[in-house]
Amino acid sequence: MPKPQIAARIASIPPSGVAEMMRLGREMEQRGEEVIYLVQGEPDFDTPPHIIEAAREAMARGFTHYVPGEGLLELREAVAEKLARENDIQADPKSEILITTGATMGLYAAVMAVVDPGDEVLLTDPAYGPYEAMVGLAGGRVVFVPLMKSDRGFYFVSEEFESRVTPRTKAIVINTPNNPTGKVMTRAELEMLGELAQRHDLIIIADEVYEKLVYDGRQHVSIAALAPEFKARTIVVNSFSKTYAMTGWRLGYNVANSALTSAMTKVIYQSGRCATAFVQRAGIVALRESQDRVRQMFQAYLERRRLMTDLLATIPGVSCPSPEGTFYVFPDVSSFGMGTWDLAKYLLNEVKVVTTPGRYYGVQGEGHLRLSFATSTANIRLGINRIGHALERLWR
Ligand SMILES: Cc1ncc(COP(=O)(O)O)c(C=O)c1O
Repeated sequence: MPKPQIAARIASIPPSGVAEMMRLGREMEQRGEEVIYLVQGEPDFDTPPHIIEAAREAMARGFTHYVPGEGLLELREAVAEKLARENDIQADPKSEILITTGATMGLYAAVMAVVDPGDEVLLTDPAYGPYEAMVGLAGGRVVFVPLMKSDRGFYFVSEEFESRVTPRTKAIVINTPNNPTGKVMTRAELEMLGELAQRHDLIIIADEVYEKLVYDGRQHVSIAALAPEFKARTIVVNSFSKTYAMTGWRLGYNVANSALTSAMTKVIYQSGRCATAFVQRAGIVALRESQDRVRQMFQAYLERRRLMTDLLATIPGVSCPSPEGTFYVFPDVSSFGMGTWDLAKYLLNEVKVVTTPGRYYGVQGEGHLRLSFATSTANIRLGINRIGHALERLWR
């Protein structure tokens, strides 16, 4: 028997719901159909011009070589200033900040640095899909903690976490503002999880990539800011992707104690080597110079969020609390009595609108669809109107 060519760990990677729906949408588009995408996980805006200019300049000045695995010191300093100014986190740029090629790499470095084979990692259900795949690649086991549902959305219950902790539990992944639910964790919820991590000696991996997209006067709070004991066991994962519309640049940063940072640096060094030199120079400019574009993009999301939720509210059978953060809504469509993979495919086939089935994000996501409002108001209007017509037909 020939040896299998593909390592067994690859079999643990679940398929991506977003990629699968995108693929089906593109196929339909190639057949000449006019398809509306409400799946996108990235800003539709261009990167602000002064950031593009900074990269151009850096390239011309010779920032085209390797840089240290942990990133340019000046960028780490700019990140430290930002953390102190905006997040109330004091971090030593020399030892507690690691520059990554985006939050995806940051999450991967965090998981690889802390999860041993057989370790358990607590993940909320629903959760962003790649967490489960990464834990599987490290040989760890995911233990899902169901979030509870009310008519105002999803919420955390302390006992649900506590009862799933075992001697093998190593870490807990949190994501606020949350993809896909749009939930922003409250200070009280973060304190509850920090204390739980404290009691059971767990690492907290805190994905904060949507920190700038928080609505209605709420505030993004980083768990690392709440207590020095929490900071000591937290890896904050953040990136430039969503805030600065820089998804294609691949730039992010992790913040953690020096032992964790040094362990994660080894993962980066042995996989990606370092983030691109001139992109890091542009990152300094993004953090230190005008934030006007960030504010303008926020205003646009605010308007789109209102439009999308107002339109969804007119569709009988759809219940959609306004998301507290992110650029996603996660309406409850369970009244149509269809599995959400089937429902998403029905919407694509009937009215050519691409959505993401909530089931992709976990068992608790069943009964929901994720719709992105990182697209034009015209697309939102057209897409939701089409969805309304298709869902109406299901009542008959
Ligand atoms: C919750 C969450 N974390 C991380 C990422 C990845 O971000 P990056 O582009 O920085 O890798 C995404 C992208 O959709 C996300 O939704």
